[in-house]
Amino acid sequence: MFKSLKSRLFIWYIGSLLLMTIFIILIVHVFELENGAFFLTLLFLTLAVFGFTIIYKITKSLTYLSSKMKMISSKNLDERIKDIQSEDEIEELAYSFNELLDRLHNAFKREQQFIADVAHELKTPLATLRSTIEVALQQKRENIDYQKALQESLSETHRLSSTLKNVLDLAWSETPQEQKNAKSFNLTELMADLLETAQKMAVQKKIGVSGSFVKDVTVYGFKDKLGRAILNIIDNAIKYTSQKGKIEMVMKKTDTMAAVTIKDTGRGISQKDTVHIFDRFYRGSSSEKVFGSGLGLAIAKAIILSHRGEIKVKSKIGQGTIFTIILPLT
Ligand SMILES: Nc1ncnc2c1ncn2[C@@H]1O[C@H](COP(=O)(O)OP(=O)(O)O)[C@@H](O)[C@H]1O
Ligand SMILES: [Mg+2]
Repeated sequence: MFKSLKSRLFIWYIGSLLLMTIFIILIVHVFELENGAFFLTLLFLTLAVFGFTIIYKITKSLTYLSSKMKMISSKNLDERIKDIQSEDEIEELAYSFNELLDRLHNAFKREQQFIADVAHELKTPLATLRSTIEVALQQKRENIDYQKALQESLSETHRLSSTLKNVLDLAWSETPQEQKNAKSFNLTELMADLLETAQKMAVQKKIGVSGSFVKDVTVYGFKDKLGRAILNIIDNAIKYTSQKGKIEMVMKKTDTMAAVTIKDTGRGISQKDTVHIFDRFYRGSSSEKVFGSGLGLAIAKAIILSHRGEIKVKSKIGQGTIFTIILPLT
């Protein structure tokens, strides 16, 4: 019952005061004992020993806990504090500390995985670039061959710089933002700009892009970043929709929120993929032939979350996909 330190200390304190008072009344006033001072000293010592035991136990567990904490670094983040079974606040502290370690460990693993993925993603185009140049230089060739080699090299450098740009974008969106640089801006205007861009991007595939936006919606944040996030979704809609498909961009609002939806008549996303499409470097199982790095939606999601918004997806294989972005109004 009295397992918490707070109640134990409290009981000890109140108990001591009470016992002292009763003793003093009994010894001095009721029995009028001659060696009362002796009994009082005895009582005092007993209570002190009790108090000392309680405090000793607390500091012992605390010292143990702190020595364990000192030993944990980025090298052994998988260690946990196990042997505190005091069933009091100190055990609770150890438990919270272990939970903190769990979170740090996971974040650390994610970072390491990310670095490995980035390295892998940059390695392939670099290797292709290198071998293209090496092969071209091996012997004397016709102009047309050089041209071909240069064209291939150019496309690989495009790939490299696009991946790099995405990685930087992702790094930006996942670090806490300097809120002093954030501004209120007109989302309706941004959507109108994006519609124009989307229409240009979709011309080649003869995809029709239509838009309908409520007027004068303002949100707070970073206009260019939010634009990038929505553009990534538009880019996907165009990439994963076949010729002569349709894309519809709509923005509505409620009292507190703006909702942007981007709907396409494309190939759709399988249920298995839906769970992962927002993961870094995840590409749908049937996306190999389409240019991309699998970072677009991870970036979009990170940016939208940093604007206190959310993003949802609804899709049906062979019929199309709807992405919905919810953003709080200024
Ligand atoms: N509108 C869409 N229609 C069909 N599939 C989509 C759509 N948007 C995203 N996806 C799927 O989600 C995956 C992840 O998207 P993204 O992060 O933008 O990477 P990327 O486009 O570079 O492959 C894509 O590979 C694709 O399989
Ligand atoms: Mg994409």
